[in-house]
Amino acid sequence: MASTAWAQGAPARAGDNQTDHGNPHWTRHPGDAALEAIPGEDGWPIVGTTFQQLADPDGFARRMLATYGPVHRTRSFGKRSVDLIGPDANELLLFDRDRLFSSEQGWGPLLNLLFPRGLMLIDHEAHRIDRRALSVAFKPEPMKAYCDLLNRDIAAGMDGWGNGADRFGVRVYDAIKALTLQTAATSFLGIPLGPEADRLNRAFTAMVQAAVAPIRRPLPLTAMGRGVAGRRMMVAWFTRLLSERRADPGQDMFSQFALARREDGSLLPADVVVDHMIFLLMAAHDTITSSFTTLIWQLAKDQHWRNACAPKRWRQRAVPGGRCPTPGWRSWS
Ligand code: HEM
Repeated sequence: MASTAWAQGAPARAGDNQTDHGNPHWTRHPGDAALEAIPGEDGWPIVGTTFQQLADPDGFARRMLATYGPVHRTRSFGKRSVDLIGPDANELLLFDRDRLFSSEQGWGPLLNLLFPRGLMLIDHEAHRIDRRALSVAFKPEPMKAYCDLLNRDIAAGMDGWGNGADRFGVRVYDAIKALTLQTAATSFLGIPLGPEADRLNRAFTAMVQAAVAPIRRPLPLTAMGRGVAGRRMMVAWFTRLLSERRADPGQDMFSQFALARREDGSLLPADVVVDHMIFLLMAAHDTITSSFTTLIWQLAKDQHWRNACAPKRWRQRAVPGGRCPTPGWRSWS
């Protein structure tokens, strides 16, 4: 029951919940020296590998893999850590048959001030109980209701991008970010986002940026300070909305969470529901925005995949004779 201890008692000071001091149930960090035997780099004094990793995450990861192999250590964000790469490592870590790994202790130091108690930040039995309670929101009937709303909003949102050549002027990242926020508002929260959209979007962006900020304390004028202020605003806003949803539930995901019960029949406490919802928004919004932008970028660069993804009628128009010139390509339509 590792993570319930912190869930029940607030840590003494802001920042303490990022450490084993504020989380007495955490396994004590054995100190950086315990990782000495693992090959890797400590980077520069004080900042370690933080800036190299932030400047080019993909290039950094590839260089470390090529130099030190699939198990190597880095020192970013103030501590040594170990990267495990490849299918075997994924299986070992994600199945975690012997309960060797802690998601909370892994993600906590990065995310605990911003997204505490999200599903990805709790372990073992506490994780199982909440995940089970929240699973009501992912049953076929509610999923169909979200899907109908998503189809409607995505079609309307893309109409706003213009037609034909107009769409070449669209900045994809900004457009997808606005669209995912809009669709999350209706399908996750059950509200058309009005004048609050900008305020929520700013708070949300500040929280996500703070997660990878080099200064980890929420000091004034720092990214972490802005992120923690963003979280305060989101918590107040979601707590108000939760009372409305409990009194008058709709078809949205937040209403499902608001009425979710644990195995002992108790409703999830209000602050727990709010934290789960904020985490879920982050998990869904930022990932879809960046992965969809990357998808469009790759399609823009690669004729082969553009042809493979296009509806048959476009391919026939675009390619003389209706045949894709790329070797090995087969039609699936
Ligand atoms: C392309 C889009 C997405 C990517 C690449 C992605 C990636 C991931 C990854 C890698 C994890 C595991 C992290 C870890 O345990 O260390 C995760 C967890 C999670 N994701 Fe996603 N995700 C995406 C979309 C979404 C969406 C749309 C939602 C919600 C509707 C979502 C909700 C979650 C939740 C709730 C967890 C935590 C699960 C748990 O620990 O029980 N994700 N995601």
